[in-house]
Amino acid sequence: MNDSYAIVTGASSGIGLEFARLFAADGINLVLVARDKAGLDIIGKELAAHGVLVTVYAADLSDIEQVKATHAFISEQKIKVQYLINCAGFGNYGEFIKTSWAKEQSMIQLNITALTYLTKVYAQEFSKAGSGHIVNVASTAAFLPGPLMAVYYATKAYVLHFSEGVATELKGSGVKVLALCPGPTVSKFQEVAAQTESKLIKGRKLPGSAEVAKFGYKAMMQGRVVAVHGAGNRRNLHVLKLLPRHIVRTMSYRAQSRSQQ
Ligand SMILES: NC(=O)c1ccc[n+]([C@@H]2O[C@H](COP(=O)([O-])OP(=O)(O)OC[C@H]3O[C@@H](n4cnc5c(N)ncnc54)[C@H](OP(=O)(O)O)[C@@H]3O)[C@@H](O)[C@H]2O)c1
Repeated sequence: MNDSYAIVTGASSGIGLEFARLFAADGINLVLVARDKAGLDIIGKELAAHGVLVTVYAADLSDIEQVKATHAFISEQKIKVQYLINCAGFGNYGEFIKTSWAKEQSMIQLNITALTYLTKVYAQEFSKAGSGHIVNVASTAAFLPGPLMAVYYATKAYVLHFSEGVATELKGSGVKVLALCPGPTVSKFQEVAAQTESKLIKGRKLPGSAEVAKFGYKAMMQGRVVAVHGAGNRRNLHVLKLLPRHIVRTMSYRAQSRSQQ
């Protein structure tokens, strides 16, 4: 076991949980953050079996005061944080004029504000130390407009552009920032987003969270800036770049519409 720690937000489920498993298997200690304290405690026990130290911190990161309290709590532990995985996030499916503002506000606060705050404080700490890795989980949704999930796609466009901007500023500092861009992946995401009836999801065989986390972990260790998971996703995004935007948004709308199956 070494003395470095990874902070994983969204560690109670899906891609974040699988990132945490990879760190534990590599002997890196963990701070696990999400709202589900009981779930995190169970995961913490599982991961501690690898011989690593695991700290659990329950917080609602859509509340900036709890985000600041999370950072303050971790700072008080006087531990050497070397990795920050900003994975907590969610989406919401439906026509924008009908969807809940409360859910969207919470999404913006979690997907954008919390991620930006944690990136700032740890980028500052890592640049003083001369090393560290930050992974911001974006999405293939970051590359195009997303009718029926308009707010979610826009939050992920922010994550991608923000991460690339900061990564470029920090080039040569020893601090690496990665925007990880998964496509649709098996996790609780679709249920939370009420997206299960979308053509993008229904009846399709999706990659698992473990496969996506493994890909992201490797990309992080390689010091990459943007990593899109899946050859099919990379090919589709390449084709989209060649098309006029009005065609891209129409295709995106069709792809996201409700399945008739
Ligand atoms: N699955 C996909 O298709 C897909 C595709 C592209 C990108 N992504 C992105 O991947 C990331 C992880 O999602 P996932 O697929 O692993 O979904 P997931 O299984 O639903 O996991 C989401 C995680 O975020 C945490 N979370 C949600 N709201 C929170 C809050 N207010 N405060 C703190 N933690 C919160 C959840 O824990 P609690 O509920 O315990 O708080 C959970 O650990 C997200 O950023 C998502 O946008 C997912």
